[in-house]
Amino acid sequence: MQKSQLKVAGISAGITLLLSGIISIGVATSHELFSSAPTAISQSAAQSASGAKETDTSQPESAALAGREAQSGEQTPSPATPTEEPAAEPVDCSKVPCVALTFDDGPDATLTPRILDTLKAKKVKATFFQMGRNIAGNEAILRRAIAEGHTLGTHSWDHPQLPLLTEGDINWQITNTKAVSQQASGVQPTLMRPPYGLFNDTVISLTTNSNDAIIMWDVDTEDWKNLDVQTTTDRALSGAHPGAIILLHDVHPSTADAVPGIIDGLKNAGYTLVDIPTLLGSTNPGEIYYNGLEPQAQ
Ligand code: NI
Repeated sequence: MQKSQLKVAGISAGITLLLSGIISIGVATSHELFSSAPTAISQSAAQSASGAKETDTSQPESAALAGREAQSGEQTPSPATPTEEPAAEPVDCSKVPCVALTFDDGPDATLTPRILDTLKAKKVKATFFQMGRNIAGNEAILRRAIAEGHTLGTHSWDHPQLPLLTEGDINWQITNTKAVSQQASGVQPTLMRPPYGLFNDTVISLTTNSNDAIIMWDVDTEDWKNLDVQTTTDRALSGAHPGAIILLHDVHPSTADAVPGIIDGLKNAGYTLVDIPTLLGSTNPGEIYYNGLEPQAQ
């Protein structure tokens, strides 16, 4: 096991992100090196942030109001042509408990479409953080994900530990993946998840330049390690809380097999499953987000 010193910025304590407190950690050779740290901070961050989120109200009433006016017989223009299915009401995660399923390391030619099938059948939106090198040949999967209402983010070109690279190489990992994703899907990603959750001040600065928010997680299923449907499911369900960002990988058959049960379990527990933009609202480039209750201030 090789040990190297790696600078990692961004340890959240409550609603304060101590970016100034750059720390060094020993690095193991596991897949998601930093997987436990966000979990450790999540609860305190979530609790201290819950008050602030209460004030974040948008206008979910407008649809209901329009409906009421239409019913009252006043001179309201009749609603647009009725569709077969009523449009889904916008989800307001400040009012209902939301969780976001996120899938890293794809797209995978077989498993990503399987997961998309499940999400479609269960009417759930999710977010995919994709590697640039996996996109060639899988462009149709990206277009399908967008067409079905999901959100695409980036996850570097080939999964390096970004803080170990030169600034130029980090920038290439970020911007080339973003360009290739946009070319394939027609939509420019604005969310970036660094491999292993590792970032430093250079990564933050470059994602600010590239107009990407840094999206971490606070529930780690460790699906890549356990490769077990039940364990992955249990970890997702036991870690869930309002605002949770759940980390999964759409490159393992066991994960694809676990997704239906995870969705059912979360729904049974009263959660609404949303994509990251719905969970977080508008995000700021270069800012780091661990969950939906409080963006981490720099
Ligand atoms: Ni990854």
